[in-house]
Amino acid sequence: LALPQLSGNTEINNKITVVIDALRATSTIVTALHHQAIEVIPVVEPAEAVELAKNIGAQECITGGERRGLRIDGFELGNSPLEYTEERIAGKKIILSTTNGTKAIKLASQGAAEVLIGSFLNVQAVIEYLSQAGRDLVIACAGRGNWGLSLEDLACAGWIIRGLIDAGLEPGLTDAAKTALYAQREARSIGLEKFFRQTDNGRNLIEVGLEQDLAACADLNSMPLLPRYSNGRVAVE
Ligand code: MLT
Repeated sequence: LALPQLSGNTEINNKITVVIDALRATSTIVTALHHQAIEVIPVVEPAEAVELAKNIGAQECITGGERRGLRIDGFELGNSPLEYTEERIAGKKIILSTTNGTKAIKLASQGAAEVLIGSFLNVQAVIEYLSQAGRDLVIACAGRGNWGLSLEDLACAGWIIRGLIDAGLEPGLTDAAKTALYAQREARSIGLEKFFRQTDNGRNLIEVGLEQDLAACADLNSMPLLPRYSNGRVAVE
């Protein structure tokens, strides 16, 4: 059920894929859409973002993203959900380039029947949709570095799986999915923010002065949206 390290598209074909980068790309995307951004356009390379921004026009879009956790030189915003306030981004198209998250969205879209964006901010909305969807599911965890594991993504995947089981589904669980369930159990028992503090990505964010982002990304179900990626953009219908 869960695919913690996305490595290709063979397991995605015709399935619903949920992409998760809880710290922070998918949390930022959900926040941007919740605060009335028109859409988020994920791109892999910063240069692509700059080019696209030129084509769209400075009035209509905002460039955002990070490398090593920090705002990319020349970009207007970083990858902190807290920067994506309604005042700043309502009515704009966000062009976003992050280390793993935006790459994962692009990869996960190849061949998938549908691509959803998941985070702790909207996890219940994702669960409710999936419990009715009646299709096979791949949960793509963006991970860390060169597709290394991220415990917080795994816990969010496990949260979805737990929700589906609680909704009466009996998913076939791979070892990865079972591991995700264990991670979810730990996150639930100690609380999300504390759990984030104990992860590699969480520690990194604290080190670069972005500790507040942990609480922002731990605000469970505060933004009940179901963002979808299609035609190169993430939006809520
Ligand atoms: C990523 O896309 O790799 C992450 O979201 C990194 C971050 O936010 O620092």
